[in-house]
Amino acid sequence: MKKRPVKLSAPIIFGLVLCLVMTVFAQEDIVEVADSIFSGKKIRPPVPFHHEAHNEKAKIYECNVCHHVWEGGKKLEYETSEEMECSECHYDTTAAGYPFDVIKAYHDNCKGCHLQKKAGPILCSECHVKQ
Ligand code: HEC
Ligand code: HEC
Ligand code: HEC
Ligand code: HEC
Repeated sequence: MKKRPVKLSAPIIFGLVLCLVMTVFAQEDIVEVADSIFSGKKIRPPVPFHHEAHNEKAKIYECNVCHHVWEGGKKLEYETSEEMECSECHYDTTAAGYPFDVIKAYHDNCKGCHLQKKAGPILCSECHVKQ
């Protein structure tokens, strides 16, 4: 059988390059968590978080481990909310429970997993690193 070379048309190549560029910029750019809900009124130093490097090292393959979507009290298996800030759903800095408490959302997500995996920072000063 003769092998036919796969032909990449200009629009496909352009699309691929665009995807790559978008992935790199959307993810590698994040070096700390900077949810806009806290902007200008942070009590603690910002939390370094090298998004892509962190997720690779921690072997997290599903985006919705963090960027989740819920319906009727259940987390949806295949949905993600990666284009949203956590605070778009967790939007109260004084609430004391889900779904609104934004500080609890961050702490339980980040610290919860670090405790469970016995890896990653769990003390205040290990995450809120003084500069
Ligand atoms: C360990 C948790 C975690 C995982 C896993 C994760 N992210 Fe994120 N992501 C975050 C946090 C935290 C932010 C920053 C939110 C902020 O600062 O408002 C963020 C921000 C983003 C942003 C920017 C959103 C914005 O509004 O600024 C994009 C895009 C994104 N993530 C995509 C992804 C994709 C795609 C995946 C899967 C390949 C993924 N993330 C996996 C935690 C995670
Ligand atoms: C589209 C809305 C939405 C977005 C965006 C969102 N959440 Fe949630 N989150 C919810 C809802 C709804 C619940 C469940 C509330 C309940 O039923 O108690 C929840 C529950 C949680 C919980 C407790 C349950 C669990 O899975 O451990 C944590 C922790 C959490 N969110 C952290 C985060 C973090 C961190 C981000 C950003 C990376 C985020 N959430 C983004 C809506 C959202
Ligand atoms: C699902 C599990 C999981 C979640 C969620 C998670 N982490 Fe981690 N994190 C890890 C693991 C595992 C490590 C250790 C990786 C290693 O060094 O092997 C780690 C390591 C780290 C480190 C050490 C430096 C580094 O980048 O490796 C920092 C800082 C960190 N996490 C911050 C965060 C923050 C901030 C959040 C919440 C936005 C978060 N993590 C959410 C699993 C998680
Ligand atoms: C595993 C990492 C982690 C640990 C441990 C941790 N935090 Fe956080 N914390 C975060 C992240 C991520 C945010 C969201 C920061 C942002 O968007 O700027 C946050 C937000 C906060 C905020 C709201 C923002 C601000 O600065 O006012 C406060 C207050 C806070 N944390 C206090 C604490 C205290 C006190 C401890 C120890 C008991 C602690 N944190 C431990 C990751 C952590």
